[in-house]
Formats: sequence, structure tokens, C-alpha cells
Amino acid sequence: MVWSTSWLFHAIVTASLAIGTACSQPSGHEAITRDVCIIGGGASGTYAAVRLQDLGFSVTLIEQDDSLGGMVNTYTDPDGDIPIDYGVADYRSNISVVESFLKRLDIAYGPSESTEGTTVRANLDTGQRVLNYTSPNALDALTRYGEVAAKYSELEHGYYLPEPVPEDLLMPFGQFIEKYNVSGVIHVVYRSYGDILHQPTLYVMKYFGANAIYNLFNGFIGTKSQNNSEIYDKAARVLSGNVMLHSHVVSTNMTADGDGLIEIRVQSPLGLEIIRARKLVITIPPLISNLDGFDLGNSEKTLFGQFQSVGYYTSLVQNTGLPANTAVLNTNSNNLYDLPTLPSVYQIVPTKGTGLYQVEYGSPSPQPIESVKSDILASIRRLKTTGIANVTEDGEPQFVAFASHTPFQLTVPADAIKSGFYSKLYALQGQKQTFYTGAAFHAYDSSLLWRFTEDLLPKISSGLN
Ligand SMILES: Cc1cc2nc3c(=O)[nH]c(=O)nc-3n(C[C@H](O)[C@H](O)[C@H](O)COP(=O)(O)OP(=O)(O)OC[C@H]3O[C@@H](n4cnc5c(N)ncnc54)[C@H](O)[C@@H]3O)c2cc1C
Ligand SMILES: *[C@@H]1O[C@H](CO)[C@@H](O)[C@H](O)[C@H]1NC(C)=O
Ligand SMILES: *[C@@H]1O[C@H](CO)[C@@H](O)[C@H](O)[C@H]1NC(C)=O
Ligand SMILES: *[C@@H]1O[C@H](CO)[C@@H](O)[C@H](O)[C@H]1NC(C)=O
Ligand SMILES: *[C@@H]1O[C@H](CO)[C@@H](O)[C@H](O)[C@H]1NC(C)=O
Ligand SMILES: *[C@@H]1O[C@H](CO)[C@@H](O)[C@H](O)[C@H]1NC(C)=O
Ligand SMILES: *[C@@H]1O[C@H](CO)[C@@H](O)[C@H](O)[C@H]1NC(C)=O
Repeated sequence: MVWSTSWLFHAIVTASLAIGTACSQPSGHEAITRDVCIIGGGASGTYAAVRLQDLGFSVTLIEQDDSLGGMVNTYTDPDGDIPIDYGVADYRSNISVVESFLKRLDIAYGPSESTEGTTVRANLDTGQRVLNYTSPNALDALTRYGEVAAKYSELEHGYYLPEPVPEDLLMPFGQFIEKYNVSGVIHVVYRSYGDILHQPTLYVMKYFGANAIYNLFNGFIGTKSQNNSEIYDKAARVLSGNVMLHSHVVSTNMTADGDGLIEIRVQSPLGLEIIRARKLVITIPPLISNLDGFDLGNSEKTLFGQFQSVGYYTSLVQNTGLPANTAVLNTNSNNLYDLPTLPSVYQIVPTKGTGLYQVEYGSPSPQPIESVKSDILASIRRLKTTGIANVTEDGEPQFVAFASHTPFQLTVPADAIKSGFYSKLYALQGQKQTFYTGAAFHAYDSSLLWRFTEDLLPKISSGLN
């Protein structure tokens, strides 16, 4: 059994595939004037900032956390120097901007490595092992699925939908599976979608298209150091004084002044900073609740107000009592395609760190973090009661790291897609000197987002010279 290190693909592995404390006083300095102000220092925002700076524009990047990277999470073992990436793992091997970006930042990369081990299927609601589990024929299903996906390869560049939107993309993914007899694909993609069988097929295709299938068979790439934080640490150094961490937007004034500058007020650890910029790039999840203080017009409010999202969490746990090199996939034989009943743990997978397991958890809608954490620990304890895991001398399972990547998977209902939601969303690009990138505007994948952001650069920089 081989686990691809690739994030959506741990589970596929079937025989058929063996192949701030800030004060609210003004900071006291002058307003900061920049060509472009970028909000959100994850995959898209960091890429935009580095590229725009390299093209000769002045930038400032605003990030609420203490580091850049967004969904990249790297844990460093206290007594070793083994980095463990428990967030973003891999990148697409055949997208040229991925390699250019890594080269620009002097990051060594190579084919992703996979881990060998044993897979146990268990129902984590009961702790019982699932006997006689037979993997669906993924290879066969992937071929059929790939033929349909190939018709929509434009989706890998953005929400470029045919008009009218094809029924295949609008139908719930559960119905698509039946129509094309592709149940073998479900275990490749089920994680991260919440209730995947009810998600419009569009969202599965957005991530899992022809390019993803190519990478699944030909391999992904990863950093040589197996430490994805290096990418963002290096980017922060390239951007040097132009990153504001622990910072968030307090208000924006999108009415340009006589010099064509819009105003963004940002709360930083140093106080209230005033940024005057010619362009604004928003990369954060565009939920109304996450855009407090932004000067939104009616179209933005109407569009962003339609987004729904799911919960997605990742963590590292010790004292699981699981045998070495053993992964547990949550499998519920009472459910269609043996999917787990959410909210629940998706999987528990061994890492390079001795005794450290990565646990991924999902829910159809965002959950309180404390309930996610207690459900993860309870699920592992249930494995100890049934003997799949041992009671450990070191005691109870414990988190060594935890990250919530919620809100994840911003989607709108099929009716909205059908009535042109994405054309209206994309029509916001450039209005009021503002541009948007990030997963809600494209796909939940760093490589695809870097390419989408690259493609947006000429529009962002137009008129800046
Ligand atoms: C567990 C997990 C594993 C994954 N593995 C992979 C993988 O192997 N390969 C891959 O390509 N993709 C992977 N992804 C998905 C992918 O990395 C994300 O879809 C991608 O990071 C999204 O990029 P983004 O720029 O839209 O958002 P993010 O990277 O999330 O960046 C958004 C940033 O904005 C900040 N922010 C949010 N709100 C505010 C605010 N109001 N003010 C200021 N800052 C704010 C956040 O702190 C964050 O840093 C994974 C995701 C998860 C959760
Ligand atoms: C991973 O990279 C980050 C950023 O460069 C660094 O701070 C951390 O020490 C690295 N971890 C290991 C184990 O090398
Ligand atoms: C699993 O297969 C074995 C051997 O074929 C059989 O004896 C057993 O009853 C099966 N168990 C279940 C739960 O179906
Ligand atoms: C569905 O696909 C499976 C293999 O993936 C195959 O065995 C089966 O015959 C197919 N069923 C139909 C109705 O085509
Ligand atoms: C990259 O993947 C696509 C599928 O999206 C494939 O058609 C193409 O041939 C691949 N490119 C290279 C250079 O391998
Ligand atoms: C927004 O900026 C414009 C241009 O500088 C100015 O005229 C207007 O008063 C500002 N609006 C607010 C609410 O501060
Ligand atoms: C539990 O521990 C016993 C005794 O050390 C060992 O024989 C057994 O294989 C362990 N089981 C698991 C699931 O690790």
C-alpha cells in the first residue's frame, strides 16, 4: 500500500492504482503609499505580492496571522529537525508558473515522495474495524471520469463556464457518479468537500480535472526540504519591509482621491496604519463576515452573501496507540460508498515524526474548534477500546498541532451557478480599482491559484506605469 503524499489522494491508494495585541491609536507614521495593497498572505496573496514587486511595483501585503503561507502548516519536532507539513503538501508537476515561482525563491524541489504502510478501515463512530472492505475499481472509473473532465479543461484556468452551464456540472456529484458509473473516483476526492454527494459537480471538476488526473498518475512535486514553510519564509524575506503581519483591515475608502489613491486603514501591532494604494487585491475568503469594514457595493454584497462553506481541519496527534506505519481511514459501511458520516475524522495517517499522526477532520458547515478537537480525541480513544490501537504508557492522545482551514470550499447552489453567478462574480474584477484572486475565485489548489494569479497580473498592473 502506498500513500501518495498528495493531499486529496491519501485515500486512493487502491491496488488498481499501484502505479494581535494592537492599540487603536494611529501609529504616528505617515500614510504608506503603494501601487498595490494585497489582503491575505496565503498562496494567492504571497504570489501576487512577490510577482508585482518583481515587475517593479511597490506593494504591501496584509496578513492576520503571524506568518505567510495560509493553509501551509509546518510542524518542527522539538528534539529533531524533522519538518512535518500537515497542511499543504504538494504542487502540480506540469504547470510552468509553479516551477518559475519556486526557482525565483531559490527553493529546491523534486518529485513528491510517498510513504509505504498498512491501511486499516474502521468506523470511527464505533471504533470497529470494517471487515471485507473491497476497494472500488478506481482506475476504470478515473478513465471514464477523465473523459468528461477533459471537456471542461478551461475550468482549470478559472470559472470559465460554457453558456448555458452544462447539466453535468450542475448536478449533485452523487448523481454524476451514478450517471457515469464512476463511484471509484469518490475515494480520491471525498475529503475537503463536506457533503460531497450534494455538492454541484462543478466544484469537484474545478479541483479534480484533467491536470489533477495527470499528476495523480505522473506524480506531484514537493520541496526538497519537505518543508513548505520555506517557500513563504523566503517570500517574506523577498518582500522584506512590505509585509504587515498580525494585521487586519479596519476600513476601506474606495472613492479615489485626486491622485487616484484609495485608502485602506489597517490595524497592526504598531497601531493604526493608513495605506494609500492605486490598486487593491483581495485574496481572503470573500464572506461578508470576513469583510467587515470593507466598503462593499450592492453587487459585492449580493454575490458574496450567497457563498456557503464547509469545515476542514488538520492536526498532528501523539499517543494514538496505532501500530507504526498504519493509517486508519474512516469508513462507514452503512453509508453510500462507505463514506464517513460528517462531521468526523476523515483519516489518521502516519507522518515522518515518530509517533505523530496527521488527523484530518471535515464537516458540512463550520464547527466550533473545541468540538472538532474533542471528537478527534474521542475517535482515537474508540480505536483503543476495540484493539485497533493500544492503550499507551504515555497516556491519552494529545494534539501537538492543530489548524482550522475553515471556511473552506466556498460554493454557491446549482441555481446560482446556472443563472450566471460566476460571470457576475468575475465582472467585479477591476471595478473600483479592486481585483480578486484566491480559492473562492478559482480552486482550492496552490498551483492552480498561482497560475490564475499570474494571469491576472496584466490587468492588475495595467495603468500603473
Ligand atoms: C489540510 C490541507 C491540505 C492541503 N493540501 C494542499 C496541497 O497539498 N496542495 C495544494 O496545492 N493545495 C492544498 N491545499 C489547498 C490550498 O493550499 C488552498 O486552497 C490554498 O492555500 C488557498 O489559497 P488562498 O490564497 O485562497 O487562501 P489561503 O492560502 O488560505 O490564504 C488566505 C490568507 O488570508 C489570511 N486572512 C484571512 N482572512 C483575513 C482577514 N480578514 N484579514 C487578513 N488576513 C486574512 C489567512 O490567514 C491566510 O493566510 C490544502 C488545504 C488544506 C486545508
Ligand atoms: C521549516 O521552514 C521554516 C521556515 O523557513 C523554518 O523556520 C523551520 O525551522 C523549518 N523546519 C525545519 C525542521 O527545518
Ligand atoms: C468476511 O469474510 C469472511 C470470509 O469470507 C466471512 O466468514 C465473514 O462472515 C465476512 N464478514 C463480514 C462482516 O461480512
Ligand atoms: C460500472 O463500472 C464497473 C467498474 O468500474 C463495472 O464493473 C460495471 O460493469 C459498470 N456498470 C455499468 C452498468 O456499466
Ligand atoms: C499537463 O497536464 C495536462 C492535463 O491537464 C496534459 O494534457 C498535458 O499534456 C500535461 N503537460 C505536460 C507538459 O506534461
Ligand atoms: C473617501 O475618500 C474621498 C477622497 O479622498 C473623500 O472625499 C471622502 O470624504 C472619503 N470618505 C470617507 C467616508 O472618509
Ligand atoms: C499492542 O501491544 C501488544 C503488546 O506490546 C502488541 O503485541 C500488539 O501488537 C499491539 N497492538 C497494536 C494495535 O499496536
